[in-house]
Formats: sequence, C-alpha cells, structure tokens
Amino acid sequence: MYDNILQKLQTERRLSGSEYKYLLETDRYDEELNVAARNKAQEIFGNKVYIRGLIEFTNFCKNNCYYCGIRAGNKCALRYRLGKEEILSCCRRGYELGFKTFVLQGGEDKHFTIEILCDIVSAIRREYKDCAITVSFGEMSAIEYEKLFKAGANRYLLRHETASPEHYAKLHPVDMSYENRMRCLLDLKRIGFQTGCGFMVGSPYQTVDNLVADLEFIGQFKPQMVGIGPFLPHKDTPFGHFPPGSLEMTLKLLSIIRLMEPNVLLPSTTALATLSKDGCERGILAGANVVMPNLSPQIAKNKYMLYNNKSSVGAQDAQALSVLQSRLDNIGYTISYARGDYN
Ligand code: 5AD
Repeated sequence: MYDNILQKLQTERRLSGSEYKYLLETDRYDEELNVAARNKAQEIFGNKVYIRGLIEFTNFCKNNCYYCGIRAGNKCALRYRLGKEEILSCCRRGYELGFKTFVLQGGEDKHFTIEILCDIVSAIRREYKDCAITVSFGEMSAIEYEKLFKAGANRYLLRHETASPEHYAKLHPVDMSYENRMRCLLDLKRIGFQTGCGFMVGSPYQTVDNLVADLEFIGQFKPQMVGIGPFLPHKDTPFGHFPPGSLEMTLKLLSIIRLMEPNVLLPSTTALATLSKDGCERGILAGANVVMPNLSPQIAKNKYMLYNNKSSVGAQDAQALSVLQSRLDNIGYTISYARGDYN
C-alpha cells in the first residue's frame, strides 16, 4: 500500500484524499518519502539552497490570532518598528553578504500605510535592481496589492493558515475570515506576484482531515512558495498551553509538498529550526530548498517573538553566514547566491 501510494505521488504528483490521509497517518518511518523528495529537489536545484534575507520590520499588529505572540492582545510584547533608513541599511548589509532576495515581514501595523510601504519598496527597488523583493504585510485590498506590485515587489507571502473554514474559525477571532484570506491569495496570484501560502503543523484543533484539505488546496492553488513549520506555543497567547507540532509530521508534509509541486520554493523554516537543533538540516533533507537568515537588527530579533525560544539562523555578519554554510557542508549542500525565482 505505502509503496504504491509513494509511487503514485512521484509519477502523478497528486493523490486522492484518502491516499494523503493514509500517508499522514501511517506510523511507518518516512525515510523513503523523505529520500524521494530530497532526490526530486536535487534533480531540479542540485545540492543548493537559496538564501533570503529576512527583515522583521514591525511587531505591531492589529490582529488577534490566538496562536501568535505578536497579537494585539498580548500586552507583554515589547513593540518596535524600524524606519525606512533602518530597513535600507539591513538591505545594504544583506547585499554586501551576497543576498539577492530581501523579505520584508511585519505585523499588520496601521502606522505603515500603503503609501509608506510603497515608498520603502520603491527605495529598495531603485537601489537593488538585481534583487527580488518579497513582502509579507498580511491582508490588504486588491488595489493595495497592485500598488505594491507596481512599486517593485515581486513575491508575496501570506500563509492560508488552514484550508478548512471551521478550523480557521478556531484559530482566529470573528473579525478575521477564511473567505478574505482566500480572496487575498487569489488577488495576489492574479496580479502577478510569485505567491506563497502555508500553514502550521500541529496547530490547536487541527485534524488529519484538515491537513488533507491543506494539501488539496496547495494542489489546486499551485503556489510558487509554501511556508510550513510546526506550531510552537507562546506563553502569553490563548494557545500557550497547547503542545508543539511534531517534527516528523512537518518533515513528512515538506516531502509530500515537494513531490506534489517539484519546482516550489520551500523553506526549511525558523519554527522547524526552533523545534529541533538539527531541524534546519532535516528540513532540507526532506526536500526543502530555501533558508531565510535573519537580517533584522538585534533589537528586532529579540522582540519579533511569534512563539517562545525562537531560534535564529543569523546573518548579522559574514561569520554568521559561514556558520550556515558549514552546517550545509555537513549534509552535502551549499548556499546558492542566485535570486532563485520560481521556474
Ligand atoms: N507557532 C508557529 N508558527 C506561528 N506563526 C504565528 N504564530 C506561530 C506560532 N505560535 C506563523 C503563522 C504566520 C507566520 C508569520 O508565522 O503561520 O502566518
């Protein structure tokens, strides 16, 4: 059974709902699945991992997602925002280190109006014509997304969080909706962004059927990027007492997604690296092909806490990047300094 399903996933790239479910539920050790996904990634990308320079520019957020440490209702969070010049100086440092993609990520901070965001994106675009700009500013109107695209942003990350409306309602307060999330993703893709969706593994109330729905959504949306990582509790949130998601389930899902969408840009996420000390490497060995070192200044790094004990693959300087390189060396991979667009 297992072998037939794995074979079908490799050749047809899609499974039925019950076949996904079987793969997710079997307690069989996933070495074969992970190896198949790793081989598929190597066929396409070689033994190379793209790097993206992450700039966490604000942890103010108007939303109240139950899982997230920077939710508006968390009065313990120490808030910060970076100014345009600080953001540009992160890019400068990143560019000197060889980064060709900058990822601007922040909470939904009303201080950053669409005009301010476009001004920042245009300034980066002007200075770094050869770089990709990825933005992750949350939910906006189609008109706002169009403005960002015109200002020079190329890619947009917006995790769908869960492809089940019922589960979505258990993770978010009533002023957030599954329908709007999906509307945003469709708008982003239509406008021309390389678009990333994604979800947490092992988030509270998640069922295997929810994960099957996530895979089916990915199969039909065909995102250019997929961000997945384990849920990790943050003590000052309503979900602070829930257990973390599992490493094995996260790796299994990375592998399935790689086999479904061979060209997808799939990061080995910070949450995975936080869950386990070799999580970053294990993600790559399960088919991931991107890492996102943090270019944010120290003050931001300590405060952008979506969950407790967040680890950081750092890129504060050349030395931090060489630490990453040597970790990749140990598993037979190297950093690719290419822009790494979706093909
Ligand atoms: N654990 C893991 N991932 C989280 N995120 C937010 N809070 C947590 C948490 N406690 C993820 C969400 C969000 C992304 C920026 O980080 O999926 O989309």
